[in-house]
Amino acid sequence: MSLDLERSYRRARGAIAVLAVCVLTAGALACSGAPAAEEDAAAPIAVETPAAGPAAGTAAPAQAPPVPQKQFPPQDHLNKIVAAYNVANQYPEVLTGLPCYCPCELYGHGSVIDCHRSQHAAMCDICMDEAIEAGQIYQQQLANGVDDIAAAQAQVKDRYRRAVVAQRAQQFPMMNTQQGRAFLQACSDCHQPPHPGMHLPGDWDASLARMEQYARGKGLMQSDQVWQAALEYVSMVSAQVPASTIVQYRQNLETTVEHLKHAEGDAAYYPSVRDPVLDPAWAERVAAAYNAARALPAELLASTPTACQECLDAGNTNILACLNAWQAITCETAIEEVEKLVAEHEQNQ
Ligand code: HEC
Repeated sequence: MSLDLERSYRRARGAIAVLAVCVLTAGALACSGAPAAEEDAAAPIAVETPAAGPAAGTAAPAQAPPVPQKQFPPQDHLNKIVAAYNVANQYPEVLTGLPCYCPCELYGHGSVIDCHRSQHAAMCDICMDEAIEAGQIYQQQLANGVDDIAAAQAQVKDRYRRAVVAQRAQQFPMMNTQQGRAFLQACSDCHQPPHPGMHLPGDWDASLARMEQYARGKGLMQSDQVWQAALEYVSMVSAQVPASTIVQYRQNLETTVEHLKHAEGDAAYYPSVRDPVLDPAWAERVAAAYNAARALPAELLASTPTACQECLDAGNTNILACLNAWQAITCETAIEEVEKLVAEHEQNQ
């Protein structure tokens, strides 16, 4: 239990803010897609042969500096970003009220549409997959002369909910108890069943009262028996996690969301939730910049410093490192720098 939490901090450290929310809770079904942290970064995502690398068979001297390598997000990932934000713009009502099964409830997100009001979804496979799937089902309906958003949402929700519940049943303790089953049932209706070690036992009360309010408001309230058993599960398990672990975990989370202030009341979410959905032109621009950068020599990208603060904060001081760390996806400065470099390179050709 505590081990899972500890692993989560390690993974979250060094990850960029938008991604951190995806790795804060234990579990592989948490958002994925980017080389999240130190331990994951070891596995190369997509290694491209550098355009001007040493010829095959050339033995590099033992002390030679490493040859810069492009390890960009695969083209499929970039296309997926464009597709997901397109769905969010074209059919916002299909994504509104569709539960998101990445841990973005920690950011105050209430459904998949909220993930598309910022660049959050771009770093989250679950957010994008749910959006794209819901969009496809709805388009198929329209092609057949049907317009039933609730049915499209139910289909997507059911699939993702089942997957996350099955995964939690493996990860969390005491799942074979009445309380464990009630927890999975009651707490998977609107988001992934969260880690009970997320709050100290006494601190759960306010959250759980809010959850009950949401459930009653949406007409999704469980029977008293199930709800009470779910609450018992949360208090039993949170009492088992060392308080110091929970405190550390909360500090980590609060650092991640420090700029997002939690407002009061039923409809009050973090500020981003009231923002409009991002224009897909943003995602198209990112995909185009990455594509253009694929044609540039890795050495040129590696020798050009970046002013992208997000990249610099993570120790990525040149454009290649920024692109490789996938941080350029959410950093406009880096995208501008790539565009400028591409234009200059073309002029020099
Ligand atoms: C009817 C929908 C619904 C149900 C059911 C629900 N939640 Fe939530 N939950 C939300 C929404 C919406 C948010 C994000 C907004 C917020 O935090 O108020 C959220 C956020 C959270 C958060 C993050 C914010 C915080 O207070 O730490 C936790 C933890 C959480 N829920 C736990 C639970 C647990 C445990 C259960 C089961 C007992 C549960 N939820 C059931 C809708 C629901």
